[in-house]
Amino acid sequence: MDYKLIEFKVHGDENGKLIAVEGGIDSPFEIKRVYWIYDTLPEIERGKHSHKNLEQIIVAVSGSCEFVLDDGKTKETVILDRPNLGLYIGKNIWRVMKNFSGECKLVVFASDYYDEKEYIRNYDKFLEGVK
Ligand code: TYD
Repeated sequence: MDYKLIEFKVHGDENGKLIAVEGGIDSPFEIKRVYWIYDTLPEIERGKHSHKNLEQIIVAVSGSCEFVLDDGKTKETVILDRPNLGLYIGKNIWRVMKNFSGECKLVVFASDYYDEKEYIRNYDKFLEGVK
């Protein structure tokens, strides 16, 4: 399945910690868009889509949440619970985000601008596309 976990370098001293992500260096793609997700209640499931072309890296900069990733053949669950851990998700992966902890804040780095036409939001269509 086209996903991987990326450990980011933590710059830390008595002043606290800092992590930097440089497009094409720390991420496998140039970053064109950054967005963040917060205030999601624990019983909510988000995502439920795949992307035809978009690549993303997701970081839980605070709190934790679970990603269920699905390539049409198998499903794998990844837990994001550390600010130095990035989840890279490639193209054509169905993702469901759930079990958001209180104070979960996700930052998402994306390889392209927002384009609703590029989303697949119907699971049967997704399965047809990856067959
Ligand atoms: P949505 O894709 O439904 O979020 P999730 O997959 O996390 O459940 O997006 C929520 C809303 O935000 C939807 O109206 C589209 C809008 N949106 C943008 O305008 N720009 C963006 O970059 C993203 C990711 C979403």
